[in-house]
Amino acid sequence: MATVKSARKVDLQDSGSDLSEQIKAATQETHVRAETTQLMSNFQKGQITRTQYKVLLCSLYEIYTALEEEMDRNSSHPAVAPIYFPQELDRTEALESDLEFFLGPQWRSKIIFPAATHRYAQRLREIGKEKPELLVAHAYTRYLGDLSGGQVLGKLAQKALGLEGTDGLSFFSFPGVNSANRFKQLYRSRMNSIELTEEQRSDVLQEAVDAFNFNIQVFDDLQKMLSVTLESAEKPKESSRRALFPSASSVQITVGLCVGLVTMGIGLYSF
Ligand code: HEM
Repeated sequence: MATVKSARKVDLQDSGSDLSEQIKAATQETHVRAETTQLMSNFQKGQITRTQYKVLLCSLYEIYTALEEEMDRNSSHPAVAPIYFPQELDRTEALESDLEFFLGPQWRSKIIFPAATHRYAQRLREIGKEKPELLVAHAYTRYLGDLSGGQVLGKLAQKALGLEGTDGLSFFSFPGVNSANRFKQLYRSRMNSIELTEEQRSDVLQEAVDAFNFNIQVFDDLQKMLSVTLESAEKPKESSRRALFPSASSVQITVGLCVGLVTMGIGLYSF
């Protein structure tokens, strides 16, 4: 990910002057990369297991908690207020209910996520404190994504995991949004109403590219976690065999993933 300011120039092609158009053009290439990560490619083929889905939900929970806490804290900031739609968009409660469904009442103690998720959440908290005008880049990346390709992913997850009704799928459901397309239009017009200096606009566009890259890194880290777990599962030591293959309860999955991550030295943060 580009982190040096001098290297930060996003390609706007002929994208007009609206922020919504510029941000779409600026993130077009990283959107393709996000869509084609191994985790997302498998997801699109309906190849998602319960374990993959659970660890994805854990990471999303960490990310949305940070995003929504920072949005709430900055809700009256002039660059946040126009795109502040907690009732329509907030995902934290939906994720809590999905995690409880999959991990049980003690779900909070079972949350695990890789280092990339921790870095993403840290960045959200940093800009919430220091540059709230950049929050629009992250809110756009996640919420408009959830209302676009995310809707298809919800249906694929339901089928692949054999879920009944909406149990475990609240994340994909937006009861406060009647028409995703109309809501996205409203959201874009609100984005376009935000007043930004040229420098701030350029920083927002770069932050959106970074936001996609944070997501890509999370997907890649999750994929690595899961691959290592599977490899360990193929050649387990006696102690890890017990941890990896009992009745597939979440605590045991957690321990299995920890074994994999410690082996790889990626680092695991839990709270
Ligand atoms: C399996 C992976 C994905 C698929 C199939 C997918 C598909 C799509 C499609 C078809 C649209 C266009 C919808 C429309 O024009 O109304 C879209 C828009 C969008 N997607 Fe994705 N997407 C995927 C992953 C992601 C990821 C991982 C992110 C970011 C974390 C993301 C963020 C967005 C955003 C922000 C938009 C709105 C673009 C705009 O109109 O400005 N997508 N996606």
